[in-house]
Amino acid sequence: METKDYLRILRDEIHSAVIATVDSEGLPVARVIDIMLADEGSVYFITAKGKEFYRQLMDKPYVAISGMCGGEGTMNKKAVSIRGKVKNIGAEKLPEVFGQNPYMAEIYPQEESRMALEVFQVYEGSGEYFDLSVKPIFREQFMLGEGKEDTTQTKGYFITDRCHGCRICYSKCPQKCIDLSVKPLVINQANCLHCGNCMEACPFGAVEKR
Ligand SMILES: Cc1cc2nc3c(=O)[nH]c(=O)nc-3n(C[C@H](O)[C@H](O)[C@H](O)COP(=O)(O)O)c2cc1C
Repeated sequence: METKDYLRILRDEIHSAVIATVDSEGLPVARVIDIMLADEGSVYFITAKGKEFYRQLMDKPYVAISGMCGGEGTMNKKAVSIRGKVKNIGAEKLPEVFGQNPYMAEIYPQEESRMALEVFQVYEGSGEYFDLSVKPIFREQFMLGEGKEDTTQTKGYFITDRCHGCRICYSKCPQKCIDLSVKPLVINQANCLHCGNCMEACPFGAVEKR
């Protein structure tokens, strides 16, 4: 799937997500916020000028967002997480926010009561989709905004040409997501839990964490 598909899951299926910022002392703060809009490479949420959250966004315009959806129980869940830069874009998109999220009129019924609201856009950053409802597990990284085409920042464990093909890493891999048909062996990034067992087990130091 593409960035826009993951952002759509965040807006439509998750909708209420946890957003973290840092306070004036540099300590983490998290709260539930609705993802109101999404486009090709960004998401939008709103908050009121009087909130601590607003102050923190203005002081340090970075957020980490995480939310999950799916059926009952951990093994039916999928999560979308993003982190990146955020900017205040004023009230211009408020009519669109209220248009696409009619329940907002129950919380802020009169036009006048919406005065305090402003829209924030997460416009650049990176994200990850993690799906526990399939076997093997599925994960994918994606980029937002400017960094969208940049795949050089892919995080994970990689087997280098120091690999002797001994397969010890495979024996320790909980998802058996290492391709044994080639040398050096190759980790299937889409199915890797990032547990690090392979790196710890490799007697040749052939596994790198990036
Ligand atoms: C389901 C749900 C959705 C919420 N959505 C928003 C939202 O979109 N914008 C907002 O400002 N507050 C929203 N809130 C309220 C905030 O979580 C709450 O005001 C929080 O205290 C704000 O963080 P702060 O205390 O750091 O300012 C929501 C709460 C819930 C339970």
